[in-house]
Amino acid sequence: MTIADSLLITGARVLLSGGALKVADVLVRAGNIVRVASAITDSEATVVEAAGLTLLPGVIDPQVHFREPGLEHKEDLFTASCACAKGGVTSFLEMPNTRPLTTTQAALDDKLARAAQKCLVNYGFFIGATAENLPDLLQAHPVCGIKIFMGSMHGQLLVDQETNLEPIFAQGDRLIAVHAEDQARILERRQQFAGITDPAIHSQIQDNQAALNATQLALKLSKKYQRRLHILHLSTGEEANLLRQDKPLWVTAEVTPQHLVLNTDAYAKIGSLAQMNPPLRSPRDNEILWQALRDGVIDFIATDHAPHTLEEKAQPYPNSPSGMPGVETSLPIMLTQAMQGRCHVDDVAHWMSMAVAQAYGIPNKGAIAPGYDADLVLVDLKTYRPVLRSELLTKCGWSPFEGWDLTGWPVVTIVGGQIVYDRGQLNTEVRGQALTFET
Ligand code: DOR
Repeated sequence: MTIADSLLITGARVLLSGGALKVADVLVRAGNIVRVASAITDSEATVVEAAGLTLLPGVIDPQVHFREPGLEHKEDLFTASCACAKGGVTSFLEMPNTRPLTTTQAALDDKLARAAQKCLVNYGFFIGATAENLPDLLQAHPVCGIKIFMGSMHGQLLVDQETNLEPIFAQGDRLIAVHAEDQARILERRQQFAGITDPAIHSQIQDNQAALNATQLALKLSKKYQRRLHILHLSTGEEANLLRQDKPLWVTAEVTPQHLVLNTDAYAKIGSLAQMNPPLRSPRDNEILWQALRDGVIDFIATDHAPHTLEEKAQPYPNSPSGMPGVETSLPIMLTQAMQGRCHVDDVAHWMSMAVAQAYGIPNKGAIAPGYDADLVLVDLKTYRPVLRSELLTKCGWSPFEGWDLTGWPVVTIVGGQIVYDRGQLNTEVRGQALTFET
């Protein structure tokens, strides 16, 4: 595959910025969308014949763990970005629990340099909070925000005491994204259920109350300082109901596809592959989360792509690590839900692209309109195909959705006007760019 200067995507059903799906042509030049109209001609452009397919803005996945540096046996920025390209994810925001932890400018610069070398899609990184790195949190640049693990984490990245959280909320104004689980409650319940090796106990140890306690604390601090707060992977009906009653304008929340379509029944089928933090919840929680998402109480979708090897996952609970991969399947999972009537295709595009761009202040992304970056995905909403382990590109080599019959699979993915994935073929020459954040 060659690197093209202009692309003309013809005949797709295009998701227009108002939310309508209409057959149109899209002309891309030097990485930008320049025209959306019917019957465009351009003799210079490489034509992408897309009749029968649907063109959506590329997915921006705002919570991933890509493991580089330090944990490359699970995943690295190259393999993860290949998986992104295949999944229609054209930009990602990555978390700081790599080794070394991303808690300093130097660690951030190292990640940016690695990404510039190997990432096929666009990238941005969080700076991680410790109890001691407030100056780094205030100054690190460029970052999409500050990540605080209030629970579910060991070592320096855990900031679970209100006395340590308060100064982070009090100083500066950049976005704070919280993993909200109450560490003290988790530790107490771990003791209570010690000796149980069935991973299903994970959802009882790190229960709904643990998530609610931490979300309440984060909300309290955010309100006290009117500080921009984002609640990562909101997982319980209780937290959704809390936000429904009391959600300041400067607060946003996300949900993962896993917390929408999987629940505690999954442990019986896939064992520790269903183990993640915060844990899977009940079918009732699934329903409340869906309603909150449809009503705008929850703003957008993130995968929390958190790969571990099958060997690591095979250890008996609690030694089995928490986390599951997601970037390759998130768009088809959500589009399949749309085709089954849970929501609309334009809702999915909003939750996975525009709403994320707005929340993180990422300019020129999230819509198909002149002036926007040409980060695009052509999907096939007519064919169903199963998730097959043999086709996965994530280094961990498994998915919690293996065997699920899905539609909306990406056919072509375009990053900055370059075709990075085309009907099963990757163009590994393409490189993404560092995202910028207007916050
Ligand atoms: O399940 C999880 N795994 N949740 C997280 O927040 C971290 C992640 C990981 O890095 O493995």
